[in-house]
Amino acid sequence: MPLIATQVPAMLASDFRQDLDLSVDELLSLLELATDIKRDPGKHAAALAGKSIALLFEKPSLRTRTTFELAVRQMGGTSIALDGPIDEREPVKDVARNLDRWVNAIVARTYLQGTIEELSEWAAVPVINALSDLYHPCQVLADLLTLQEHFGKLEGLKLAFIGDGNNVAHSLMLNAARLGMHYIHATPTGFMPHPLVRDQAETIAVTSGGSVTITHNPMEAASDAHAIYTDVWASMGQEKELQMRRVRFDPYQVDEGLFALARPDAKFMHCLPARRGEEVTNEVIESSRSVVFDQAENRLHTQKALLLMLLS
Ligand code: CP
Ligand code: NVA
Repeated sequence: MPLIATQVPAMLASDFRQDLDLSVDELLSLLELATDIKRDPGKHAAALAGKSIALLFEKPSLRTRTTFELAVRQMGGTSIALDGPIDEREPVKDVARNLDRWVNAIVARTYLQGTIEELSEWAAVPVINALSDLYHPCQVLADLLTLQEHFGKLEGLKLAFIGDGNNVAHSLMLNAARLGMHYIHATPTGFMPHPLVRDQAETIAVTSGGSVTITHNPMEAASDAHAIYTDVWASMGQEKELQMRRVRFDPYQVDEGLFALARPDAKFMHCLPARRGEEVTNEVIESSRSVVFDQAENRLHTQKALLLMLLS
């Protein structure tokens, strides 16, 4: 008996290790499916019946972990959460080959993208990146749905990212580039996005009609933007650099003055958790134009869609 509703499109790739494992068509289908799930949350209530998903978290999480656990439970499956360094007691390849015999998918939040790749190499079941040092693809699925809901489209939107060239920025940049959006990133010298990800995004933008711009000027980025996005100045694992980063990023705080340069209907976005008074002021994150909790809600709907597409 099929466990998954037949209208769910299957993903060609067997893993979601990084953003480009989903093709543009699959990404657009996923957003459509997530919209449908949001409208009718009970629709896939038994879709994961009999399925088990392992959640491996090397780093803390509120949103990702809660929404994956809820997504699995609300679709009739079982999740098993395992915390701590994945390779503490045995090599990653052995962890992968053990889990592979018991579960139907592995969701992993790791320090290194290499750990995601290794899990994927050694486990036949789908591996989902729940954040690594290089990417946060599940976050950006929710961000794209949020933008689509507020603007009715994605193509042509100007998305300004103010801050560190980190995992969230990389995933946003790659997706914005391929969806014909205009991604502009303002950051100090030394904190630019990874050059290989930037090259990849710039190449993709050539054919999509989108663009990728990196600047040191936050005002240039914010001007006429549809959305201003920021993230913490020091990501998990970079805590020791926080004092130095506070000094370097101080001119890059998203405050009301900077936000006023954006379009009148612009939205403020943040993956959360946020540090008020650092990358964003309390006024901006609490303003009526902030959509941070819409983004958080959409994590649930988009991850349900992702699980359905990967496991169908
Ligand atoms: N945005 C996000 O991934 O939040 P968590 O770290 O709480 O999962
Ligand atoms: N860039 C942040 C995102 C947290 C969701 C980090 O990696 O800590």
